[in-house]
Amino acid sequence: MIEFQNISKTYATGVLAIDGLSLKIERGEFVVLIGASGSGKSTMLKMINRMESHDAGKILFDGREIYSFKVRELRLRMGYAIQSVGLFPHWTVARNISVVPRMLGWPAQQISERVSALLQLFDLDPAIYRTRFPHQLSGGQQQRVGVARALAADPAVLLMDEPFGALDPLIRASLQLEMKRVHRSSGKTIVMVTHDVDEALRLATRIVLLDQGRVVQTGTPLELLTQPASSLVVDFVGRSDIGIKLLSLQSAQNLARAEAPLAGASLPAETTLREAVSFLAMHRLAAVNLVSDSGVHGGVLHVADIFSPPADQPADRHG
Ligand SMILES: Nc1ncnc2c1ncn2[C@@H]1O[C@H](COP(=O)(O)OP(=O)(O)O)[C@@H](O)[C@H]1O
Ligand SMILES: [Mg+2]
Repeated sequence: MIEFQNISKTYATGVLAIDGLSLKIERGEFVVLIGASGSGKSTMLKMINRMESHDAGKILFDGREIYSFKVRELRLRMGYAIQSVGLFPHWTVARNISVVPRMLGWPAQQISERVSALLQLFDLDPAIYRTRFPHQLSGGQQQRVGVARALAADPAVLLMDEPFGALDPLIRASLQLEMKRVHRSSGKTIVMVTHDVDEALRLATRIVLLDQGRVVQTGTPLELLTQPASSLVVDFVGRSDIGIKLLSLQSAQNLARAEAPLAGASLPAETTLREAVSFLAMHRLAAVNLVSDSGVHGGVLHVADIFSPPADQPADRHG
């Protein structure tokens, strides 16, 4: 879908931002770029939709060199959302979200329905928010409108640069879930930049760790945690709490025993093991019921099962 072939970029100031980088992003991947500040993440993203040029190598989109597209066509096919949002201040929320559908000449009725659907998707009541102006929204609401705008014309590719940067943790977590759902249900190719390793572990189908404009490692969240390519990777993903992070990659229901419900507390079945451990510790419980979205009992999670090796593996393999 998007392919970097030996890309380099030096800014006019002489800074080498991207250094001979090659990377192939397949259709439907959710790629998260992580790395220290200044490692080249934003530059990479901006080169994809030609907001920045590159000096050497080729970038392909759908098998074609990006400079063979009209820049307008390229950007219409790629939604772009950034932390600083960039909403037009004198336009209502509805007008802001509908920029690209208008450019594409959608009928008014279709645009209006699309705006309402997107506002609902991001928990903003259309009756209230359609006619608001950006300055009448909180920072978090502005960011949600920014992401809604990027999704408006249903682009095949979504480029997001720290889109949830300034949000408080609760809203951030709910937006992360929303993006995960959008990705699963739409099959879009998403390339997202974050400096938040937990966000990357939660969302990515593949993580790309950059350092000084080069790819240090690319792999699934599990691969980065369990097979780090270098000590730089270990330091970046967090030396001290890798075990906790591994728990965050697994759903509680994978360890549930098929037992009748206990009297007592329940958690949603898709809760991560990390959240479940936190809940069990806080409430001093040895086990908790799991329930599905529709309220069906989904077995019992026992704390002992989290800390013992799976039955089909001998304990010394973990030692
Ligand atoms: N417009 C620019 N002009 C000059 N240097 C830049 C510009 N944008 C970024 N850089 C430099 O390029 C390097 C990579 O920056 P960037 O891609 O923004 O990194 P990241 O997003 O990972 O923090 C940094 O050294 C940064 O200072
Ligand atoms: Mg950046």
